[in-house]
Formats: sequence, structure tokens, C-alpha cells
Amino acid sequence: MNARIVLLPGDGIGPEVTAQGRKVLEKVAKTFGHTFEFSTHAIGGNAIDDFGDPLPEATLTACRNSDAILLGAVGGPKWDDPNAKTRPEAGLLRIRKELGLFANLRPITAQECLIDASPLKREIVQGTDILFVRELTGGIYFGESGLTKNADGSETAFSTATYSTHEIERVVRIAAIAARQRSGHLTMVDKANVLEVSRLWRRVTERLIRAEFPDLKYDVVLVDAMAMHLISRPSTFDVVVTSNLFGDILTDEGSMLPGSMGLLPSASIGSSGPGLYEPIHGSAPDIAGKGVANPLATILAAAMLLRHSLKLESEAKAVETAVDQVLAQGFRTRDIAPKGHPSIGTEEMGQQVLDALKS
Ligand code: NAI
Ligand code: MG
Repeated sequence: MNARIVLLPGDGIGPEVTAQGRKVLEKVAKTFGHTFEFSTHAIGGNAIDDFGDPLPEATLTACRNSDAILLGAVGGPKWDDPNAKTRPEAGLLRIRKELGLFANLRPITAQECLIDASPLKREIVQGTDILFVRELTGGIYFGESGLTKNADGSETAFSTATYSTHEIERVVRIAAIAARQRSGHLTMVDKANVLEVSRLWRRVTERLIRAEFPDLKYDVVLVDAMAMHLISRPSTFDVVVTSNLFGDILTDEGSMLPGSMGLLPSASIGSSGPGLYEPIHGSAPDIAGKGVANPLATILAAAMLLRHSLKLESEAKAVETAVDQVLAQGFRTRDIAPKGHPSIGTEEMGQQVLDALKS
């Protein structure tokens, strides 16, 4: 097949890890007889520096005209000035909104050979294989907000969470379809004992599941309880669907299950158009430019790109199998190497995956 892939390397370690993701995609194209056309565009801090805008028009246009997007990460101390007109993250929020990427998929799997990298006990983490589906373009991150000065000089601020039936249905449907393809268990996380918006989530989800997915095992968990269950019995969950804010927090908590953020990919998809694929970690300014960043999250994001946007399931599996194989052989970047275990750099790790893909 022919596909146009936009690369948005971003800031910090973004360019280092996306370079490895690109190499893997090039290798896949060659091995499986596809033509991938790559173009690279600015987003985040570097785009603010060069264009005065964290999401320049040229970047957005290229993304709209593509089949899929692979992003590194944005941000860093250089752009952290609280008085700045705009921030790198604004570019990310905007691209998700502009492209209608309302569902964020984050698989969290505890691999047997890496379990000892987890800060949690082996007995707890073992068998963890969760797919989080986080709503990405609604809720409190996009609701009405404001700040007022009070007469006594103090301030009052507000942020509101809003969801419509339609916004809830479309993301729950993606989660339910995924659950059907996995072990058939869907959990919805909300705060329906307190929030009106959660009560709507609950009604809409229950109705949808009863009407379209009666075959699924469906349950609901309150978000505070979920924070606890996620680190006490993570292996009992399969697909978990939730709103933007709850998903943001729970997926970061969940990322500690397998041990390192350097391993976890994510996909942001809509009902049509290109999807956006990225590692869940940030730009890691503390290790940027040192060649030690773990590229596996980005490489696994590239696998998700192959699967969800290009519908190349065997190719996606081939990449995931190559990553598993490299880890099973004992290759480790610094973030996942146990004490005393030798580690390899970003490039070498990328090369190992390429070599494993060949065989
Ligand atoms: P971070 O994810 O960049 O780093 C947290 C820690 O994990 C650091 O010690 C870092 O060295 C390590 N780490 C992250 N990715 C790694 C990798 N691939 N290999 C090895 N180690 C890795 O989060 P932090 O430090 O809170 O944020 C740094 C910057 O990134 C900030 O400007 C933040 O706003 C931005 N950020 C951007 C995101 C995005 O682009 N999607 C997401 C999260 C943060
Ligand atoms: Mg986060």
C-alpha cells in the first residue's frame, strides 16, 4: 500500500525517538512491499521558536492530508515561562481537537521479562494487560473556564466539565469494540456518586452496552476506588473507558505497572481521518541529546499506527514481536536496566529491533 506519514519529532528526546520509529516503519515498508512517504513538520517548543506558534498552519495542513501521524513529545524548561503567550502543550491540545481525535488508546502490559522493573510486587503486576480508552477532546480540559478578581484582591477560578450523549457514545463504542476483540470485559470509570456529568456517562454507557454489546461483561468503578484497584489488582481489568481528566491521571498511574514510561505507546483516533501516535512520555529534558532515551514506546506507537490507521495487522504484530524478542534477549536501555545490567543507547536499541524484524 501507499501511505503518507507525517513525523512530528517535537522537543527534547522527541527527535531521537521518532528517528528510530521512522527507521522501523521504513524497514516494514521494505520487508512487506509498501511505500511510505514521510514528511517532517514542526510542533511544540521548536515551532514556537521558529514560527511563533506551537501548531503552525503548515503542520496542521500536512497532518490533515496524511494517513497517519507519528509524534515524539513537546515541551521543556525553555518554554515554561508562566507569562509566555503560548505553551508547547497548546499545540498538542489543538491538533487533537482539530483532527477530532476523541479517543486515546493506551495499552498497558506487564511483560514477564520486565516485571522486576516495576516498583510494584511481581505477584501484583503479573498478568496485567489493560487497554485504557480515554476521552480526549471533551470534559474539563475543554470546558468553559475563567478567573475573576475579588474585591479583597484574592482570586476565584473555575473550570467546567461538559459532555454530550454523542461525545460519550462515540468513545464508549470504540472501547466496547476493542473489548469484544479482547477478553470481552469492559469497565467504565466515573464519579457518578458526586458529578452530574458522570451520571450522564453512566446512563448513556449502560444504554449503549445493553443495546449494542449485550455480550460484554460490563461493570462500573468509581474513579477513587479505581486508583486503588489499579495498583492492588491490575490483572483483573481488560478494557477501561473513562473521561478526559480521569483517564489522564489513571493512565499515568498505570504506566508505572510495567516499570517505565519509555515502553508505553498511545494512539489518538477519531471516526475518520488520520490518527496520531506517540509515546506516552514527555520530552525528558534531563536526558535529551545524550542518546540514552528508550525508543521502544515510540516504536510500539509506530506499530499501533500500522494497526489502526493503515490496517496492517501482520506488520503491526511483526514490530511488536521484534520488540518482545529484543527484550527477551536481554537488551535494555538505561531506564529499564536492572542495577549492574549493561545498557545500550537509543540508536543501538532501534538497530536491535530492525535486526529482529529481519529474522
Ligand atoms: P517526561 O516523561 O518527559 O520524563 C519523566 C522521567 O522519565 C524523566 O526522568 C525522563 O528522563 C524519563 N523518561 C521519559 N521518557 C523516557 C524514555 N523514552 N527513555 C528513558 N527515560 C525516559 O516527563 P516530565 O519530566 O514531567 O516532563 C518533561 C517535559 O515534557 C515537560 O515540558 C512536559 O510538559 C512535557 N510533556 C510532554 C508530553 C507530550 O508531549 N505528550 C507528555 C508529558 C510531558
Ligand atoms: Mg498526563
